[in-house]
Amino acid sequence: MSTLEKIDLNNTPEHIAIIMDGNGRWAKQQGEKRLFGHNTGVESVREALKAAQKSNVKYLTLYAFSTENWNRPKEEVEGLMNLLVHTISNEVDELNKSNVRITTIGDLDGLPGNCKDEMVNAFERTKTNTGVNLVLALNYSSKWEILETVKSIANQVKEGTLDTDSINDEYFSNSLSTKGIPDPELLIRTSGEHRISNFLLWQIAYSELYFTEVLWPDFKEEDLYEAVLNYQSRERRFGMVSEQIEKNL
Ligand code: FPP
Repeated sequence: MSTLEKIDLNNTPEHIAIIMDGNGRWAKQQGEKRLFGHNTGVESVREALKAAQKSNVKYLTLYAFSTENWNRPKEEVEGLMNLLVHTISNEVDELNKSNVRITTIGDLDGLPGNCKDEMVNAFERTKTNTGVNLVLALNYSSKWEILETVKSIANQVKEGTLDTDSINDEYFSNSLSTKGIPDPELLIRTSGEHRISNFLLWQIAYSELYFTEVLWPDFKEEDLYEAVLNYQSRERRFGMVSEQIEKNL
């Protein structure tokens, strides 16, 4: 029996978020430069997307470039930007044909013009698609997102258009860049690191965390199924006790 067949397709996470890590170490192992790892990592993006499509996942969010990644060597940052532009430009037709909707979270205005244009174009081209939502986190960090939200809410209060009593979980969630996207039930991080690295801090309050030793360029469809199977073996209690969960079944 394949791992996909073992998955209960009625109980797959609606949203999986992935911290794609290990490209640099993978490249080093091959005696190559870091960019070779990022280039090969694009194939793993295809694998993860294919797996999401086959296993009923509706949202796949990928941490492609964090606000902290600007601190990397110039050559790597430029290489990553070029990779993003070329990949999206080359793949948008195919993604559109397979009904994928591309969206982004993060500060697009801080990206090079051609990168922003490519993303906006992909977003426009695919916005009516109804298949998997591929959410690319670009120039994203959770602290940035939360601070922007706090500033926007504070301004609304200052202008008198918002009463502080109306600021609740739902209002805050709907003010984040992930507005309209359900919180991820499952967060995967590759490469054996056990960190969240400023990713979706508000949204993962109740997410299941799955860490794998696999380096991102080695990540295959099968690895996503393994993560989903592991997720399905867990009991999600949301602060309650087991007996309460069983009663609700
Ligand atoms: C982390 O590995 C990976 C990144 C910062 C970039 C990930 C980007 C891609 C795989 C390209 C994605 C393309 C699209 C179109 C979504 P690392 O460099 O930190 O690895 P290390 O920890 O081994 O050094």
